[in-house]
Amino acid sequence: MTDQRDLDVVLFGATGFVGRLIAHYLAEHAPQGARIGLAGRSEDKLARIRGELPPAASAWPLLSADSGDRASLDALVRRTRAIATTVGPYFRAGMPLVEACADAGTHYADLTGEVLFVHEALRHHERAAASGARIVNSTGFDSIPSDLGVLLLHQAAAADGDGRLGRTRLVVKAMRGGLSGGTLASLKGQVDEIRRDSASRKIVTDPYALVPGRPDGAAGQRDSFGIQRDEELGVWVAPFVMATFNTRIVRRSNALQDWAYGRDFDYSEVMSVGGGITAPAKAAAVAGGLGAFAGALAFGPTRALLDRVLPDPGEGPSEKSRRRGFFRIELHAETPDGRRYRSTVAAQGDPGYNATAMMMGETALCLGLDSDRLPDRAGILTPASGIGQPLVERLRGAGMTLEIERS
Ligand SMILES: NC(=O)c1ccc[n+]([C@@H]2O[C@H](COP(=O)([O-])OP(=O)(O)OC[C@H]3O[C@@H](n4cnc5c(N)ncnc54)[C@H](OP(=O)(O)O)[C@@H]3O)[C@@H](O)[C@H]2O)c1
Repeated sequence: MTDQRDLDVVLFGATGFVGRLIAHYLAEHAPQGARIGLAGRSEDKLARIRGELPPAASAWPLLSADSGDRASLDALVRRTRAIATTVGPYFRAGMPLVEACADAGTHYADLTGEVLFVHEALRHHERAAASGARIVNSTGFDSIPSDLGVLLLHQAAAADGDGRLGRTRLVVKAMRGGLSGGTLASLKGQVDEIRRDSASRKIVTDPYALVPGRPDGAAGQRDSFGIQRDEELGVWVAPFVMATFNTRIVRRSNALQDWAYGRDFDYSEVMSVGGGITAPAKAAAVAGGLGAFAGALAFGPTRALLDRVLPDPGEGPSEKSRRRGFFRIELHAETPDGRRYRSTVAAQGDPGYNATAMMMGETALCLGLDSDRLPDRAGILTPASGIGQPLVERLRGAGMTLEIERS
């Protein structure tokens, strides 16, 4: 059905901070002949953005649509095979597009890091499965490194055995990056919703919130907020800020692939602060800082203070600091029969912005151009279950490190 669409990829939210970076990425990296359009609620703003892009974008069509106007979204998604959206906060403004894509059979990618949004989107799983739409959530720094890093471990374990993984840990070895106003708005939206509604709090704190049915190993899975010395790795570890989101996505990937990682798959994410004598103090500072930041967002007077100093929607880290950003992540797994594997996922550029622009850009190209290579699966999906190996290959081609070795 999508073969007759006149565009391959539409970028919705092209006027936002991360949207502009993705538009730039596509203008520089999309293959010749890829049919790309830019969408947003102001055509004037879109025209200005297009004018600042590399020449490849000069003839890209501009399409008007507003999340609050369902008819405009229906018209938009019927023109394209795939749509990548940065219109956030997703919980507030994202669901009408999911519905429109699920109805029209249009493939979809977003950048959400909001558990409540994906949980709500699951209501449209059957509709999307019936229309053939691949609705792929979290195709940026949240949660591609986690999801594809585990996929690589599983593939290696499957090449040597049955593919099941036991204890599997993601360790952030190093990263440098900033925050945009849009990301903060999404964070604040989730904090407010959790404070307002106890049912929402229950969803956000449930490690299996995004998995239909609970596997046998579910009881043992908890989020870790403490610090500890990891004897195996010889380092101190602290909580990783995105773990409570990424772990849900990775568990959903396992469920969507018929529990290919095993029903006892035991997954967690932490951040390494090294092994020197100051490491325990550093780990405590990371854990304490995260708690203090979440507390400050939830408490009126400190929230007002943060609102004054932190970036507004549309703003974010400078070009120089984005260029200096990077991340390096290792994932360690042991199979039930004792084999060990390590995958490494790394990229240059601010993880949430330059690297995310590459990850979402390549995801959108996969969905728009590679559909005959994608897994035969539709519905509300994850990067690993909805795209998998073709995305690994595209990202490697774009310069991202995605390595796997037996350890
Ligand atoms: N997963 C990750 O790693 C990652 C990384 C970065 C960002 N993000 C997420 O990406 C999202 C965008 O971040 P950002 O910093 O780019 O935010 P932003 O600068 O505030 O951009 C938001 C975009 O949404 C558009 N928009 C808002 N309401 C709309 C509506 N009703 N209809 C159509 N368009 C609408 C805005 O259009 P106007 O220009 O017309 O206002 C703008 O293009 C956030 O949810 C953030 O959390 C995720």
